[in-house]
Amino acid sequence: MAQARARYVCQACGAVSPKWAGRCEACGAWNSIVEEVAEARPPAAKGAPSLAGGRRIDFVPLKGNTEGPPRTEIGIAELDRVLGGGLVPASVVLVGGDPGIGKSTLLLQASAKLSAARRALYISGEEAIEQVRLRAARLGLSEAPLALATATNLRDIVATLEGERDAALVVIDSIQTLWLDSLDSTPGTVAQVRACSAELIRLAKSRGFALVLVGHVTKEGTLAGPRVLEHMVDTVLYFEGDRGHQFRILRAVKNRFGATDEIGVFAMTGEGLQEVLNPSALFLAERRGNVSGSAVFAGVEGTRPVLVEVQALLSQSSGGSPRRAVIGWDSGRLSMLLAVLEARCGLSLAASDIYLNVAGGFRIGEPAADLAVAAALVSASADLPTQAGEVYFGEVGLSGEVRAVGQAELRLKEAAKLGFRAACMPPRAARSKAIAVDGIAGHEIGHLADLVGRFYPERAKRAKG
Ligand code: TYD
Ligand code: MG
Repeated sequence: MAQARARYVCQACGAVSPKWAGRCEACGAWNSIVEEVAEARPPAAKGAPSLAGGRRIDFVPLKGNTEGPPRTEIGIAELDRVLGGGLVPASVVLVGGDPGIGKSTLLLQASAKLSAARRALYISGEEAIEQVRLRAARLGLSEAPLALATATNLRDIVATLEGERDAALVVIDSIQTLWLDSLDSTPGTVAQVRACSAELIRLAKSRGFALVLVGHVTKEGTLAGPRVLEHMVDTVLYFEGDRGHQFRILRAVKNRFGATDEIGVFAMTGEGLQEVLNPSALFLAERRGNVSGSAVFAGVEGTRPVLVEVQALLSQSSGGSPRRAVIGWDSGRLSMLLAVLEARCGLSLAASDIYLNVAGGFRIGEPAADLAVAAALVSASADLPTQAGEVYFGEVGLSGEVRAVGQAELRLKEAAKLGFRAACMPPRAARSKAIAVDGIAGHEIGHLADLVGRFYPERAKRAKG
């Protein structure tokens, strides 16, 4: 039977350590560590389970220490921001993404960077040491004092990490390759992934190191792993992008220590991932002015504005049901916009094949893109370019009304910074004095018909008269 054993628990952050200390290593609180006797396993119940012998829970007032957790900055600004300001000690981060998207590259760069200041361990279960070394050489990181190992047996990993005194970061690449020999199932199955993660998470919490788990997700989402892990970890980041494009977006989808709509933008180059500090400039770099079917959307991802080009191409449908091909946006939303254009503005595109593309491989999630997509569609249909130097944002409702969206000022400021001179936006934003931005003329678009009227003046007259 398991023996009751003393352990030392920080009352501030809950970190467990095997010995008493005046200051908690995990959260830095003084005099917060209290000896607790770990619960001995209760004897196997006969008949009704007995819940006797529980310890009393202590309640605390809601008001208390509200300082955020301490952070360890990695030194890659795009990554630190997505994490909410750096790594939180004793926290667990899951980095998911398609195979080949660049997860190993990102984490090798991150752990090598951190290793200059703190002890960082990188455990690869997928690649041989030589392969990782080769990649490090390619990335110019060969000199980094990173501790590198290959292992897949959880027992070995746990034994090793138990003896780790001062690791600040442990990267496991990937969780699907680990296996626990006491389980029958093969590596990568839910049972293995869950058991291995639970054990590693427990270790991270008790030892105080930040744990990063890499997990592959396939397009079908069939591979067991990341999905069952999402609720076990503190932070879930998805690394996404189109392999045909350079851009990679790191997106926080869950974060106990920060905002979830934050993104980090990287470009995959011959020397690894480079931070993209001004994504708008990059996304718009290849834009050609004065073409019909193109509109610039002033978007916001988390705390950062991103300007992207939306492109629409219409062509005569060759019979049968017309094609609707959408890249980088929700195709259900496109259908809705087409229905609104037809029902509320009298503009039918039912006889056309429609191709919609967000340039640069970016994926837009915001409903605020509705107005820009509509502008691209109407511009393509009228075969007239949108006004040069104009951006669009606004959500479109089912009656054709254009609704206010958040962060209008941030969008306009970014547009002004990139040399745009005008913005088509919802009336609330256009009228508000508070969000007037120097150098940007605001055009109020209250209804989708107002937008259509800019491309088909005779229709606007008819609608009014
Ligand atoms: P990788 O990090 O191995 O992806 P993952 O761990 O998500 O499976 O990266 C895979 C791709 O990145 C690979 O096709 C090669 C490319 N790559 C570069 O373009 N430049 C580089 O410097 C590196 C290291 C990789
Ligand atoms: Mg990899």
